[in-house]
Amino acid sequence: MTEQATIIAQMRQLIQILAQHNHAYYVMDQPTISDSEYDQLFHQLKALEQQYPDAVQADTPTLKVGGQALSKFESVTHVVPMLSLGNVFNYEDLQAFARRIEERLPNQTVEYDVELKFDGLAISLWYENGVLTRGVTRGDGETGEDITQNVKTIRNLPKVIQLADGSVPKLLEVRGEVLMPKAGFEKLNADNEARGEKTFANPRNAAAGSLRQLDPNIAAARPLAFYAYGIAQCEPHHGLTSMSASLEWLNQLGFAVGERHFVCDSIEAVQAAYEQINRERPELLVEIDGMVIKVNDLKQQQSLGFLSREPRWATAYKFPAVAALTTVDNIDWQVGRTGTLTPVARLNPVAVGGVTVSNVTLHNIGEIHRLDVRVGDTVSVYRSGDVIPKVEKVWPEFRPVDTVEVQLPANCPVCDSPVVMPEGEALARCSGGLYCAAQRIEAIRHFVSRKALDIEGLGDRWVESLLHLDLLKDVADIYHLHEHREQLLTIEKMGEKSVQNLIDSIEKSKKTTLAAFIYALGIRGVGETTARMLANTFQTLEALKAADLEALKKTPDVGEITAEWILDFFQAEHNLEVVGRLIEAGIHWDAPIAPTRQPLNGESWVVTGTLSTMGRDEATQLLQALGARVSGSVSSKTKCLVAGEKAGSKLDKAEKLGIPVLNEEQFIALMKQHGQIEN
Ligand code: IVH
Repeated sequence: MTEQATIIAQMRQLIQILAQHNHAYYVMDQPTISDSEYDQLFHQLKALEQQYPDAVQADTPTLKVGGQALSKFESVTHVVPMLSLGNVFNYEDLQAFARRIEERLPNQTVEYDVELKFDGLAISLWYENGVLTRGVTRGDGETGEDITQNVKTIRNLPKVIQLADGSVPKLLEVRGEVLMPKAGFEKLNADNEARGEKTFANPRNAAAGSLRQLDPNIAAARPLAFYAYGIAQCEPHHGLTSMSASLEWLNQLGFAVGERHFVCDSIEAVQAAYEQINRERPELLVEIDGMVIKVNDLKQQQSLGFLSREPRWATAYKFPAVAALTTVDNIDWQVGRTGTLTPVARLNPVAVGGVTVSNVTLHNIGEIHRLDVRVGDTVSVYRSGDVIPKVEKVWPEFRPVDTVEVQLPANCPVCDSPVVMPEGEALARCSGGLYCAAQRIEAIRHFVSRKALDIEGLGDRWVESLLHLDLLKDVADIYHLHEHREQLLTIEKMGEKSVQNLIDSIEKSKKTTLAAFIYALGIRGVGETTARMLANTFQTLEALKAADLEALKKTPDVGEITAEWILDFFQAEHNLEVVGRLIEAGIHWDAPIAPTRQPLNGESWVVTGTLSTMGRDEATQLLQALGARVSGSVSSKTKCLVAGEKAGSKLDKAEKLGIPVLNEEQFIALMKQHGQIEN
């Protein structure tokens, strides 16, 4: 095989494995590998593609991510309009629906196809010559928005199709619904919450928000799934005669279809199917808001036709909404691990769809104002499927006379530090990040991490035991642990040796850099790079503490909101107290290199291969301290490449482009020359 053919074979194999895993995950709901194994395979494919861009396959799942962000979506007119459905809400209405149909089809037997009514967003997908070429939202039914880029990031959706006989339709337009399966939704919200970001009220909002992202990378990171429910166009004609056969056909082409589906020969059987699904609803993978009942025979559908904008041959059969009235006893503010303040309504306990609800999140102050909910109010609490209950509506007519509008608390209910909410942010936060007990675990975890104070061995298990023994109220207590040696020895599995190792690595961490120390404080928005810029700009901790908003905003890499977070951080007294205790405990650093002494300012460097005297991270830091930007790949803009042992393609590329290359010895000499390494 030629090299190209081998690469293509490798890519095809990876694409096939990834597609199989996607199918197992989304369609069968039986993942065969972990998410991280999936990611590894995905990245392997991506790496191959980066190396061999000419060999990239049309159906690769990676192509769908990493596209350019759009400035707006284009509108597209639907060739076949996307109509809506009539509704029935009870058995009587359903019988009337069936009667109307049967009257129009005298002496014919009618079968009903009964499907899940997905609670997501309707879209249309075009496959031209077997390749997914466009995805459009329903819009107003006539015109939708072109969301092809985002649609292509949906993992369970086939990017190429082929019929069972190996042929490919010239055109296939598939209709269906994009949604976020419940498990993915819960994980997304949990992850967002842990990061202190906004959570979504329900899977539908999460799916809608994700699909309408102009940047496809955001959509790609969201666990969206597509479920097909119909064929709008197929050339040449598929030859199918029923709705149920169409769904099976779509499923064979690789589309996920509803996890339940019935073909019923009477309206009584339809009712029984509806009742069954209403009971099984909590176990379903996806959120549904009812069933869709369709005449199964496609010819009969055609002869029934449409009445205004709705088909006569189909109807939605909605589930009764599960809602109940109760009163709000109180509104509390909970502080998350990253300091976000979330309002929680404490309710007079009420049964909603068989579950007693006594607490409901109100998400944020904006939501409170939108609902205008107050303590004492009567509210409708709504639960869709098994998803988190929410306050849907406030009934002002039942409002007691003496209620007051809810305000954001000025101080953290846990630590009393000021609560802050920069303009444009949806969430309010406690500014006492270093001190607040609610944020303690995250603060410690971050403080000891490798790029912060790098205290090896102070892992989560230790931290938990230390919190349990009440030895860690905040990060400064880390430097007093040696005073509690006896207590440390009582921790299970901690012998003399591990205690000594811990104390040694704590001692060692006292010598650090100003940049690492600033980073370690865990100020919101201040990552490694920003911390370095702050260190280089302000030179001393005192100067940073004293900096005003203007000065902070002028620092490279510091935006307006981050500047505010920094200011708030150093204005919270408790934080200053902890910082003071850290310095008192002996944390110190050499003065950072002043920006005027950054000889590599603005240059782009690349480090590759194995260095014998230091890790690549360390080399990167040395370069960054001199003002260089360190990038992961060689291009014509690269100023210089540092190449250790076993430097591979980057070295070849640098040589090809005539970019200067330093070996380790030369690099160290340069660092010594600039005072980064001692002579
Ligand atoms: S068939 C002519 N089947 O319900 C209309 N629609 O009110 C044919 N929906 O926005 C629609 N699940 O996206 C059909 N199994 C299903 C569905 C379904 C959800 C949505 C659809 C549309 C709305 C119609």
